[in-house]
Amino acid sequence: MTASETRPLTAGRPFPADFLWGSATAAYQIEGAVREDGRTPSIWDTFSHTPGKVFEGHTGDVAVDHYHRFRDDVRLMADLGLNAYRFSVSWSRVQPTGRGQAVQKGLDFYRRLVDELLAAGIEPSLTLYHWDLPQELEDAGGWPERATAERFGDYAALVAEALGDRVKRWTTLNEPWCSAFLGYGSGVHAPGRTHPVAALRAAHHLNLGHGLAVQALGTCLPASRLLSVSLNLHEIRPLTPSPEDREAARRIDAVGNRVWLGPMLEGTYPGDLLADTAHLTDWSFVRDGDTATTHQPLDLLAVNYYAPTVVSRVGPGARKPRDDGHGGGAHSPWPGAEDVAFHRAPGERTAMGWPVDATALHDLLTRTAARYPGLPLVISENGAAYDDEVGPDGTVHDPERAAYVHAHLDAVHRAIADGVDVRGYFLWSLLDNFEWAYGYAKRFGAVHVDYETLKRTPKSSARWYSRVARTGELRPPGDL
Ligand code: FCB
Repeated sequence: MTASETRPLTAGRPFPADFLWGSATAAYQIEGAVREDGRTPSIWDTFSHTPGKVFEGHTGDVAVDHYHRFRDDVRLMADLGLNAYRFSVSWSRVQPTGRGQAVQKGLDFYRRLVDELLAAGIEPSLTLYHWDLPQELEDAGGWPERATAERFGDYAALVAEALGDRVKRWTTLNEPWCSAFLGYGSGVHAPGRTHPVAALRAAHHLNLGHGLAVQALGTCLPASRLLSVSLNLHEIRPLTPSPEDREAARRIDAVGNRVWLGPMLEGTYPGDLLADTAHLTDWSFVRDGDTATTHQPLDLLAVNYYAPTVVSRVGPGARKPRDDGHGGGAHSPWPGAEDVAFHRAPGERTAMGWPVDATALHDLLTRTAARYPGLPLVISENGAAYDDEVGPDGTVHDPERAAYVHAHLDAVHRAIADGVDVRGYFLWSLLDNFEWAYGYAKRFGAVHVDYETLKRTPKSSARWYSRVARTGELRPPGDL
C-alpha cells in the first residue's frame, strides 16, 4: 500500500501552494478571424474546408471568436480564480506562409492577450505549435520534409523575440503523435495524408523541430524561462497477461511513446521501434547528429491524458477491430504495429466514447517520473466531453464532468503523495470549441458556448473547479 492509499476518500486534499490551476485552449479551436490582420491559411483551414473531412463541414472560420473576445475570456478565467492559462500561437497569424518576416499585427494579438492575463494574475503558458502548420509549408512537403523542422526553429525564435519579455512558460509542440500519425498516417487530421513512411518521417522532423526550437528559445529567452513539450503519453494495458498481448503493448509503447521520449529525453531512437518498422523504412532520413539536436534539456515534461489504451495481438487471419479511439478508418496510425488490436475498456465512457479511468493517470505519472527522475511533470491537458444542455433557467449542469475532473485530480494528488513532482493541472478546455474532426459536436468546455450567439456560460463543473483552484484543496463536487 502506498502512502496515498491510507487517506480517507472524503477528506479534502491539499495541493502544493504554488500548484498551477489552469485551463487550456488551442488557436485554431477558438480564435476564428482566419482571414484577419494578414493571417494565411493553415492545414486545418484547408482540411476543414475539404468536404467530408470534418463533421458536417464545420470549420474554425469563426470558432468561438476568441480573437475578438479574448478580454472577456480572460475575465472569465479571472472570475473562476484560475492562476494559469495554456494557449497556442497560430503560426500563420504571426509568420504568414511560415517563412520570413513577422507580422506585427498578429504578434500584437498575443502581446495584448498576455498583458491581459498578467494584469489578471494569470500565468501564461505558450504552446508554439498545436497542429496548425501554415499551408504553404505543407505544400512544400510538410512535416515529412526536413526543411519544415528548420522553419519551425526560425518561427520559435521569432515568437520568443516578440513575447520573451512577458512569457516564462514555453512549450514547443502539442501532441506530436497526432501531428505525425493522425495527420500523415490515418489521415483523420490535417493534412489528411495516409502513408506510414510519411508519418514516420514526420515524427522525426517533429522531434528535430522540437530540438531546434528549444535551442532557439534557449538563445532568445531570459534564464528564468521554463521549457517543455506536451506529449499525449499512452498508458498502455495489454488485454491479457499473455506474451502476445504484452508484445502488442510494447509495440504501441514504441510508436506511441518512446518515438518521442527516446530522441527528446534520451538522445536516441529505440532499437525496437527501428526493428518494428524496418519493413517500411531504413530511417535514413535521421542524419548524423540529429539525435543530439533532438535531445535538449527541458525544465518540465507536459503530459496530456484522457484515457488508457488497451491492446491485444491479433493472430494471422483473425478479424481486427478498427477502433483505436482515434477515429481511425482504413489506414492505421500505428506503423509497425499492424497486428495490434485496440479495445475499449468496459465501464463508464465520455461522449467521445473514451473510457473513464483515472487510475491510469496515476500509473502514467508514477511510471514517467520513475523513468525520468528530476524532471518535473505538469498535466497540460485533461478533461472530458459530455452532451451538455442548457437548462430552462439558462444554467448548464454537468455533474459527469465534475466527477471526471475530480477523479483525475485525485489521481494527481495520489501521485504527488507518492513522491511525483507534479507542478500543475490545465483543464481541457476553458471553452467549448472546434474539436478537430468532430467539429462543434463534442463539448469539452468548463464554459458552455452557444454557437449561435457565442454567449459564454460557466457550467456547474466550472464553479466546482473554481472552488478547488481558489482553495488549493480538492473536495468531491458533492461537498461544495
Ligand atoms: C487533444 C488535443 C486538444 C483537444 C483534446 C480533446 O488531443 O490536444 O486539442 O482536441 O485532445
